[in-house]
Amino acid sequence: MPSLDELKALLQDFRATASHEDREDLKTFIADTFFDLVSHDHTNELADTMEQLQAVAEDIRPHVDVSGDFPSTKSSTWPQSGEFSELNPETTVVYDDFLYPDSLVDQMMDDGTIPSHYCNHCGSHDTAPLDIISHSAPVPALAAVFRFILPAAMFPNQLVVSPADVDRMRTMTLVDVGSRLGPVLFGAAVLADFGRLVGLEISAEYNDLVSKVAAARGYGQISVQQCDVTSPAAKGALSQADVLYIHNVFDFFVDPARIIAAWSAVIDNITTGRTRPGFAVTKPSLETMLGNAGMGQADIARALAKFTQVDSTEAKAVACKEITALEDRQDVIDDITVYTIAP
Ligand SMILES: C[S@@+](CC[C@H](N)C(=O)[O-])C[C@H]1O[C@@H](n2cnc3c(N)ncnc32)[C@H](O)[C@@H]1O
Repeated sequence: MPSLDELKALLQDFRATASHEDREDLKTFIADTFFDLVSHDHTNELADTMEQLQAVAEDIRPHVDVSGDFPSTKSSTWPQSGEFSELNPETTVVYDDFLYPDSLVDQMMDDGTIPSHYCNHCGSHDTAPLDIISHSAPVPALAAVFRFILPAAMFPNQLVVSPADVDRMRTMTLVDVGSRLGPVLFGAAVLADFGRLVGLEISAEYNDLVSKVAAARGYGQISVQQCDVTSPAAKGALSQADVLYIHNVFDFFVDPARIIAAWSAVIDNITTGRTRPGFAVTKPSLETMLGNAGMGQADIARALAKFTQVDSTEAKAVACKEITALEDRQDVIDDITVYTIAP
């Protein structure tokens, strides 16, 4: 019988040379035979990390309103195309999904702290539910991205993220494009092992708050840069990022007349001068955001020549199985898309 070290060496060789089917076969064999070794108590561990993120949300909540805004950051534009354009601003409310998870919003609606319905005809009982949107990523979606969807793209065909991969991640930088209250930065700090987490954000008030909370909670890997992501000042961070997170950065924040130019500038900043490959996590897909902005198909194809979409179907299915909070909120990960970016 081979010694443990010999067996490990054989497995390393196997991983380097075996076909995809043989690796899948071995994965199933190990999962079935050594279930106690490879199974991971995601439920308890994720519950702990979600508590840490809830603590961050509690630090932030007193400083902003329920939509996650300061008076100076209230959105003054409404999307002209895409899914949000169909909503009526009069009957849509913004609750920050990071600061106020569903359970808290339900509770606040039940006790009347915040409204849930509007009156179809003033004075009558003919009411309809308000549409609810959020400008921040919710915790279950962050858990799905950082524990399942992104690792599956970065380290394909692996059972778990290996210690060597964790070491590699510690040399990497994630950049959140429009970091607002920092859910992506705090989520990555708690759920992943990136060495640097950089937020690019135009609002100084968000940046001050995020910096203070990150320092108070000891997340030294988080920093924020006040800049317009379309400007040359953002170029270095965007073109050298190992991972970019782009969550609907311009809808509601950029004048619809300027949105195609804003997207062209940000895509240019990400790709021109890039010296190493990277990954982008976007919500919704880049194709959808550029299409919503009104860019034509040929221009979209040209803009995205260096982006290749990764198939995340299996990783999303695993995330839904492992993260209890996604049971009735699968919609929050449906349109999350991962790309590799060529230098
Ligand atoms: C939808 S929020 C995304 C928040 C965060 N990334 C998340 O997923 O929770 C978009 C953020 O982008 C910021 N933003 C919009 N246009 C920007 C620009 N041109 N430069 C920098 N930040 C911008 C807004 O101020 C807002 O905070």
